[in-house]
Amino acid sequence: MQNFNFSNPVKIIFGKGTIEKLGAEAAKAGQKALFVYGGGSIKKNGVYEAVLKTLAGSGITAVEHPGVKPNPVLSHVREGVKKAKAEKCDLVIAAGGGSVIDESKAIAAGALYAGDVWDFFTRKARAQEALPIFTVLTLPATGSEMNNGCVVTNEETKQKYSTGETVLFPKASILDPEVTMSLPLAQVANGAVDAIAHLIEGYFTTPDPDNAVTDEIVHALSRSVIASTERILKDPKDYNARASMMWSATLALNGLASCGYGRMSFINHAIEHSLSAIYDIAHGAGLAIIMPAWFKHYLANGGEQRLAKYGKAVFGSKDAQETIRDFEAFFRKAGAPVRLSEAGIPAKDIPAIAENAMGLIAMWGIKADKPEVEKILSGAK
Ligand code: NZQ
Ligand code: ZN
Repeated sequence: MQNFNFSNPVKIIFGKGTIEKLGAEAAKAGQKALFVYGGGSIKKNGVYEAVLKTLAGSGITAVEHPGVKPNPVLSHVREGVKKAKAEKCDLVIAAGGGSVIDESKAIAAGALYAGDVWDFFTRKARAQEALPIFTVLTLPATGSEMNNGCVVTNEETKQKYSTGETVLFPKASILDPEVTMSLPLAQVANGAVDAIAHLIEGYFTTPDPDNAVTDEIVHALSRSVIASTERILKDPKDYNARASMMWSATLALNGLASCGYGRMSFINHAIEHSLSAIYDIAHGAGLAIIMPAWFKHYLANGGEQRLAKYGKAVFGSKDAQETIRDFEAFFRKAGAPVRLSEAGIPAKDIPAIAENAMGLIAMWGIKADKPEVEKILSGAK
């Protein structure tokens, strides 16, 4: 087990009817909020009205910044920064999935920075301060509600890059599982695949796999994501399944599930970000395509024992090969694509996808060259 620091400052307010608590929390931080949301799902499921009501009840004025798209784009982030500066907002409220929360984080940092917000993503600058961020999560998937990660696509250069700074942790996040009942099942699948991906990256790439406690956390959260997904697919109104899914996805990327794994590699994510940057597909769908191919590559390079251990604990698989089949069967059952062709991505694009992925691979310090990435992608044809 490697040395680690674990510190997570995000207050979680979890449960039915908890959005009404947002106003009182946010009022501790400011009085004028930039209210960030996406394409309108929150206007259909009641979240929009509930947010405006609690903010007004606590004397907070809301300046709206709607229209965040899935895989949020830099141009829209820049508009948000401009608006937050012009309106002198003193806090940011995000209501939506990972895309809305990530864009809100970028705006919160950009609003207090004199340069271009993209500087944070190219490592030209580091965010030293940010407006206080509050979130109302509507899609369990990314863990952005309880971490300091933030992913934005520069749509001109097709770079989907990330930043992660202490100032980007939300102050508080509201997790009301009832608001996830309006999710299309495809988004439930994307969220489940993403949560699994967050659990497996560290588990399989740690240089120090003798770590019983974190391994067991990963096993337990994986089983919870899988069981909750199956219950939701059967009965989308199953509150306890929605609640388990929501909390599991949050715990999968809030730092807990990788304590002691040391220097791990987010290789599936680095390759996936290239897919969603180029083809604008959902992050979870891209991961469901990359992971089975990467598992095969990992098995061929000494991963047998680790795959077998995970499979036995999570799926009851008999060996490493069966673990890979069980992963794929789960992704398929959830409704996610597991091959490039199933997402309409032609095999002839593999060199360009690999080329694009190399930017993030270099930035994240992952040990993989372009031929290796092409080889992994070839396994996903
Ligand atoms: O835009 P609206 O209308 O809100 O609709 C969204 C969107 O179309 C919809 N949706 C969300 N909640 C809903 C709902 N529809 C009905 N009912 C609800 N309750 O779902 C669609 C997808 O939303 P999005 O926010 O894009 O999904 P997700 O939460 O999966 O976020 C994906 C983004 O997060 C990044 C991904 O790369 C991607 O850009 N990630 C962020 C991470 C982080 N900050 O730590 C880590 C992840 O690995 C990931 O990279
Ligand atoms: Zn992810």
